[in-house]
Amino acid sequence: MNKNPLKIAVLVSGNGSNLQVLIDKQLNKTLNIDIVGVISNKPCAYALTRAKTANIPTVIIDKDSNGKKHTRVGFETHALQILKQWQPDLVILAGFMKILTPLFIHGVTIDLNIAMINLHPSLLPMYKGLDTHRRILKSGENHHGCSVHLVTTELDSGQVIAQAVTPVMHSENRDALQQRIHKLEHQLLPMVVNLFAERILMFNQQQLTNKIGINLPLKLFFD
Ligand code: GRF
Repeated sequence: MNKNPLKIAVLVSGNGSNLQVLIDKQLNKTLNIDIVGVISNKPCAYALTRAKTANIPTVIIDKDSNGKKHTRVGFETHALQILKQWQPDLVILAGFMKILTPLFIHGVTIDLNIAMINLHPSLLPMYKGLDTHRRILKSGENHHGCSVHLVTTELDSGQVIAQAVTPVMHSENRDALQQRIHKLEHQLLPMVVNLFAERILMFNQQQLTNKIGINLPLKLFFD
């Protein structure tokens, strides 16, 4: 690993198990990354504890200086200021449950010219939005999975970089399916981050290029 570590900022709202996978891989040096900070919109997110335990800077953007809940614009303006200070090479939405507007998305991907990726629990472009596992079981789909995609101003619609695909077992309930997809996310996200860390995937002005001519999305199949 002779390249500079890829500087990463992670936005979270909850448990942060995907963040933990990245922290572990940074610590055991299986990913050439430097997590420069974690931003949460929820003060109680367990992801904050995970970051603090690993001595990663954290910022909670919940209330303004008057103690009032941030407006969407307030949140996004503050988050952009923080990212300008941290200067990451990549922004990851890992369980970040707030809808972002063009103010923030263009601020990151055009003004700062940084790639922003999101982890979504479905095989995009199918099943955008929330509650994907229940909807999949209800629909009788044969396959489910998760996707890592570029964030654009249209929800869950940016270019898909990679997907993990698995058969749906119709005997399993929503929780069991969710747990299985969660485990796939823990493999998919670091694989994509590695492509950026190794500078195989490069981002410039909202376009992704790759230097080895791989066709995207990459698809990983699991039993
Ligand atoms: C994941 O299931 C991801 O697909 C969704 O939020 C969840 C985050 O899980 N966007 P965790 O907080 O990383 O454990």
